[in-house]
Amino acid sequence: MIRILHYYVNFSKPIQERSFYQFYSLTFNTGYISRTKMHKKNFHLKESDCTIYFNDSFSHLEKIADKSKCILLIDKIVYKKHTKIFRGWEIILCEGGEEHKNQKTIQSLILQLISIGANRETILVGIGGGVVTDMAGFIAGIYMRGIRFGFIPTTLLAMVDASLGGKNGVNAEVYKNMIGLISHPSFILYDKRFLSSLPNKEWVNGFAEIIKHACIFDRTLFKELQKNHLQAYQHDQNKLDKLIAKNVHLKMKIVQKDPLEKHERKLLNFGHTLGHAIENELRLSHGQAISIGMVAAAKISKNILNFKETDEIIALLEKYKLPIHHRMNMERILPIMLKDKKSNGDTIDYILLKSIGKGVIQSLPIPRLFSEFQNVPHAVLH
Ligand SMILES: NC(=O)c1ccc[n+]([C@@H]2O[C@H](COP(=O)([O-])OP(=O)(O)OC[C@H]3O[C@@H](n4cnc5c(N)ncnc54)[C@H](O)[C@@H]3O)[C@@H](O)[C@H]2O)c1
Repeated sequence: MIRILHYYVNFSKPIQERSFYQFYSLTFNTGYISRTKMHKKNFHLKESDCTIYFNDSFSHLEKIADKSKCILLIDKIVYKKHTKIFRGWEIILCEGGEEHKNQKTIQSLILQLISIGANRETILVGIGGGVVTDMAGFIAGIYMRGIRFGFIPTTLLAMVDASLGGKNGVNAEVYKNMIGLISHPSFILYDKRFLSSLPNKEWVNGFAEIIKHACIFDRTLFKELQKNHLQAYQHDQNKLDKLIAKNVHLKMKIVQKDPLEKHERKLLNFGHTLGHAIENELRLSHGQAISIGMVAAAKISKNILNFKETDEIIALLEKYKLPIHHRMNMERILPIMLKDKKSNGDTIDYILLKSIGKGVIQSLPIPRLFSEFQNVPHAVLH
């Protein structure tokens, strides 16, 4: 018996791929001494639905979710700027900003949930930028093994990117988003009034992700951004609505096709491999870090894929007041980059461009990546 067990159990394979005999042995291994033959059955687990309420109002939340069950996890600055509208709701406040996106904050927020009696019926609503929505989704995914949750994004970056797609988590020191899970909010509600208090630098950060979407998916959007400028979107509600909706659709289309980022969803990481490595190390905002990451990726695309439009990308990033270079020590940055979730130790899936609007996933051997970065520094990383 023991020999059979050793022979058949192969834990390296995912459970669906284990054969009938492997299941038999597995059952034995877990202590049920039974010789009954097991049959194999697949259970298809449907992704949960996410409803997006565009151009809506915070007051609609009462109609979407039972107020008596809701706990709002609100960014402190957002709460301070918009206190009145939150009257009558159960609230926990938390700090936005990357330095707070860690396990210590999660622990403290979970203890607060326990102390106010949150239970499995609770609906957690994350209200803030990407830091708060990433943490709210993570907490909802693990609190009592998972509770319902929704988002009300309050930064442009969270509206066009961070609140979408179900990736939730926190950093482990300088390593970005190393602890987390994928689970989708039941709803995302957009109330643009929150943007009235958003500082200009945070608008700029949002445009980094918008330019990213244009670079990898949509040349028409890229041209639209070239013709416009930041203030045009800040002052024209209609233009802004369309821009937000366009970006939501671009992201959700790819998330629907590849929810677990096995294939084309990886394209959304354009600029993020270097970006994530420098964000915490150089204390840059997320938008600034990926802006520099996109310039590096465009330059590498030029070397590897003969990409010819690097200058257009640099000009667009500069137009939207995003940085295109930063002094950095590659001997410190490269090892952080190798810990990226897209690296398997030998190669890294780097996102490059064939042309504007056409991103590609390029598996680069690590030594090649190192030599590519040796060519980049003078132009990007000074
Ligand atoms: N989950 C994803 O798919 C995904 C995608 C992109 C980015 N992200 C994450 O998002 C984070 C960046 O998000 P962010 O740029 O929104 O950062 P953030 O949440 O730190 O917000 C930026 C700053 O704006 C403040 N703020 C938020 N809303 C405000 C408002 N309406 N008025 C005034 N101030 C306001 C916050 O307090 C904070 O100081 C990063 O951690 C990044 O990793 C996640």
